[in-house]
Amino acid sequence: MVICSAPGKIFLFGEHAVVYGKRAIACAIDLRTSVEITSASGIHINSVFKDDPDKNLYIKTAIKKVQNYAEVNNINISVSSKIPVASGLGSSAAVTVATIAALNKEFQAGLDNDQIAFLAYQTELEVQGAASPTDTFVSTMGGTVIVPDRKKLPPITCGVVVGHTGIFKSTSRMVSRVRGLKDRYPEVFENILNAIGQMSERGEKLVLENDYRSIGELMNVNQGLLDAMGVCIPELSHQIYAARQHGAYGAKLTGAGGGGCMVAICDPDKCKDIADAIGRSYGDSFITSPTAEGVRIE
Ligand code: MEV
Repeated sequence: MVICSAPGKIFLFGEHAVVYGKRAIACAIDLRTSVEITSASGIHINSVFKDDPDKNLYIKTAIKKVQNYAEVNNINISVSSKIPVASGLGSSAAVTVATIAALNKEFQAGLDNDQIAFLAYQTELEVQGAASPTDTFVSTMGGTVIVPDRKKLPPITCGVVVGHTGIFKSTSRMVSRVRGLKDRYPEVFENILNAIGQMSERGEKLVLENDYRSIGELMNVNQGLLDAMGVCIPELSHQIYAARQHGAYGAKLTGAGGGGCMVAICDPDKCKDIADAIGRSYGDSFITSPTAEGVRIE
């Protein structure tokens, strides 16, 4: 029997722009998805994601990828997760990474973490049609990462509060919405995407200096541009403004938008006030912490 788990993530900067090769900064958070492999006859998948049948597609595609390295058969795969589904917190990447790592261990496929991250990215690409390597890379490596550079920075040490609208969003639909706007207004979008890429560049220095006040300020600017890209919704805005009004250094949506989650960073002492304020404004909220640990064998 093998159990592997992998974390979810938040974006400090760069969702959507990263799909066009711009820099993004993402942090692993301490919500994890676990995949357990036991022996069986044939291949069976027993997933907690009953309300999201797409997740089985990630698992099936991940199996296919590992089958290029080892003979995979006669297993039962059980999935359990603390990461809300389709919320922008990387639940698809976490289940994909944990599945590949568990199969790697069980069938001794000989994959290292770079290969696990790559196969997980290929899996997301195949299932979603469009994806950047961000979610799969940060879920594999943990900590704070810069993509596409694949650089690892130390985990951030400020408070992190997540607001969850509970509104379902499809990442591929949001990615195509942005693509549509970009195709219609290429010269405008070039500036927006470049500005977001520049925030990530500046963000790298700020993370290394632990300058969370400036990171928050730039996250607010990033949020303005995400709104301009058509991926924010009023419910996310309510949560974002509530967080800022209660002392967050900065707050923005995280992930694809259109629903899902927002993230606020703050002084750790302020987490509870901010979480309460977000919860009163709309949906749910929770306090989480960044984690240095990526995929691991339990
Ligand atoms: C989804 O978590 C983030 C997007 O940038 C898509 C991607 O990077 O694959 C919207």
